[in-house]
Amino acid sequence: MANENLKQRTGTLWAVLLTTVCWNSASAVHAGTTTGKAILEQQCVSCHTLSPVTPQTVEQIWKSKGPDLSSAGVKYKPEWLKSWLQKPVRIRPAGNFYGNHIKTGEKSDVIDEASLVKHPQLSSEDADLVVGVLTTLKHNQELVKQGDYQPGTISMTLGEMIFDKFKGCLACHQIEPGYGGLSGPEVYTAAKRLQEDYLISFLRNPQAWEPKGVMPNKNLKEVDLQKLVHYLRTLSKEDFK
Ligand code: HEC
Ligand code: HEC
Repeated sequence: MANENLKQRTGTLWAVLLTTVCWNSASAVHAGTTTGKAILEQQCVSCHTLSPVTPQTVEQIWKSKGPDLSSAGVKYKPEWLKSWLQKPVRIRPAGNFYGNHIKTGEKSDVIDEASLVKHPQLSSEDADLVVGVLTTLKHNQELVKQGDYQPGTISMTLGEMIFDKFKGCLACHQIEPGYGGLSGPEVYTAAKRLQEDYLISFLRNPQAWEPKGVMPNKNLKEVDLQKLVHYLRTLSKEDFK
């Protein structure tokens, strides 16, 4: 009996000790030993998942507060990540999930600006640390083939014709601020943000990346995939500001 009691007390002591140790390591963040992982855990995971959520349901997408970052290392350009995290500007005109931030206007739907929150901003040092971790997250990397995108050019006019008239992409995406659909992310900076090989892979089969995503699979031919990425690259060189 006494033995049992002692065990219990030792257990409590351990718990107290462990809590103290963990508490100390959390406050070490302020002592100049911050790690990218600690920042992500403390400031980011409330809105973003860092490891894949499967199976994903429409409801999960609907409720998620930010894009899934589990493929960050194969998706984003590290230099873009670093600068965006220091100065985040809106990418999805109507927030992470369109349906949550749209109200019916007189003529067409309008964005409920008041319901959109500002994105947290990081210092240059913290952005470096976070990018160091994000670039190691490579869920779905087998879907991306290095060198799949073959650099080339397209005229703005032809690119826009394919994007708008032939493939109907403009219905959901803005190709310049204030021009285009609102349900998808703006694409005038897509090629600044996203790796070209990822873009080819995503456009080839959006559902392979987001099984319940609303972006339709247009069964694009290889030649059109390349042309669309040429176009996105051309667009991203424009200075709209
Ligand atoms: C309150 C919720 C919230 C928090 C906290 C948050 N984010 Fe976000 N994040 C979002 C939303 C919403 C977007 C989409 C913004 C847009 O499209 O304009 C986003 C977008 C991003 C993107 C761009 C992703 C893409 O595919 O376009 C990155 C990278 C990112 N966040 C990283 C971070 C990091 C790193 C942290 C922690 C320092 C963080 N976020 C904290 C909500 C959040
Ligand atoms: C019905 C609306 C819709 C149409 C039409 C559409 N998209 Fe999308 N697109 C989306 C949404 C929503 C996303 C965000 C990812 C998701 O939910 O799957 C997206 C994502 C993207 C992305 C990735 C952007 C990012 O920031 O991650 C690119 C690039 C893109 N679409 C290009 C295109 C092209 C090119 C076409 C035409 C062939 C097209 N889209 C047609 C809705 C659409």
